[in-house]
Amino acid sequence: MFQLLKKIPFFSELSQEDLDKISSTVRMEYFPEGHVIFREGEAGEVMYILKRGTVQVLRDNTMIAELHDNDFFGEMALVSDAPRNATVKTVTDAEVLTLSKEDFKHLLENSPHLASLVSYEVIKRVNDRF
Ligand code: CMP
Repeated sequence: MFQLLKKIPFFSELSQEDLDKISSTVRMEYFPEGHVIFREGEAGEVMYILKRGTVQVLRDNTMIAELHDNDFFGEMALVSDAPRNATVKTVTDAEVLTLSKEDFKHLLENSPHLASLVSYEVIKRVNDRF
C-alpha cells in the first residue's frame, strides 16, 4: 500500500511518517459502472480518492460535476460534520482509495500542502452552489 500511495498525486507531498501512519488504514475499493457510492443526506465517515474511473456528482437527480482519475470526493461531510451534500455515482468501473475521517483530519493538520489543496477545492465546490 505504501508504494501505491506514493504514486497518487493526492498523497505525493506527504512525509514518510504520515504515509506510514495511514498506509495500514487506507483501503482500496472497486465499484462497477452505475454504482451509487453514497447518497445525498447520508452521514459520511470516509473520503475517497478516485484512482481510476469517472463518477458523477448529483444533487436532486441533476448532475453538478463529473470527476476523473486523481480527483477526490466525500471530503465536505468530513470537514463540516454535515451530511453528504450530493450523491456520487460511478459512470465507469472505478477504483477508489478510502481514507477514514480520523486519518483525513490528521493529514490536514500535518500537511499544509494537503490542507490548502483541500480547502481551495471545498471553496470552489461551495461556490458552485450559488
Ligand atoms: P460530501 O458532501 O461529503 O459528499 C458529496 C460530495 O460531492 C462532496 O462531499 C464533494 O466531494 C462532492 N461535491 C459537492 N459539490 C461539488 C461540486 N460542485 N463539484 C465537485 N464535487 C462536488
